[in-house]
Amino acid sequence: MKQNQTILIYWAIIGLLLLTIAGLVLKFIVLGTTATGEDGRQAIILEPSERAMVLGEMRQFLAGIQGMLEAAERNDAAAIARIARPLGLSATRHVPASLAAKLPLEFKTLGHGVHDDFDRIAMDAEALNDVRLSLSQLAATMKKCVACHAAYQIAVISRPNR
Ligand code: HEC
Repeated sequence: MKQNQTILIYWAIIGLLLLTIAGLVLKFIVLGTTATGEDGRQAIILEPSERAMVLGEMRQFLAGIQGMLEAAERNDAAAIARIARPLGLSATRHVPASLAAKLPLEFKTLGHGVHDDFDRIAMDAEALNDVRLSLSQLAATMKKCVACHAAYQIAVISRPNR
């Protein structure tokens, strides 16, 4: 009888631990830190420095796309590859875990998809030398820019008395 009770207590502790782990996964991997913005989009709540980091990356996307369009106009697939490569997945290595934990899973998935696409654009431009293909890949990738901007915005964490 006594032994049975001890086993029951062990299971209760294991159950509680599993629930805690599930809660942490939900919070830091799936949900992130968000609120509903005034325009109905999900607002991801970040520190000012984190917001600056995300927006800096965004401006690199925009500048890269401008450069790739210009390169396509010159029929310069090698330049497209050169511009696309640094926008690939290698660019995500410097993202701190503390920032990643605040981003919802869907946001991370869309973001990864875009970086992945730039790796592919670079690889194909180099291997196939076909700027029309690059342009159609770029157009498809930009649907993800549009989709993410339609769903999310960034809000800076507000602290009273500061
Ligand atoms: C995973 C989501 C996501 C993807 C994918 C994404 N963006 Fe963004 N982008 C955002 C968010 C969120 C903001 C902030 C918008 C706000 O707060 O209103 C932003 C802001 C920007 C800005 C403004 C930067 C500034 O300094 O204010 C530019 C430019 C931009 N994105 C370009 C792009 C381009 C080009 C692509 C595609 C290659 C892209 N973004 C893909 C989420 C995304």
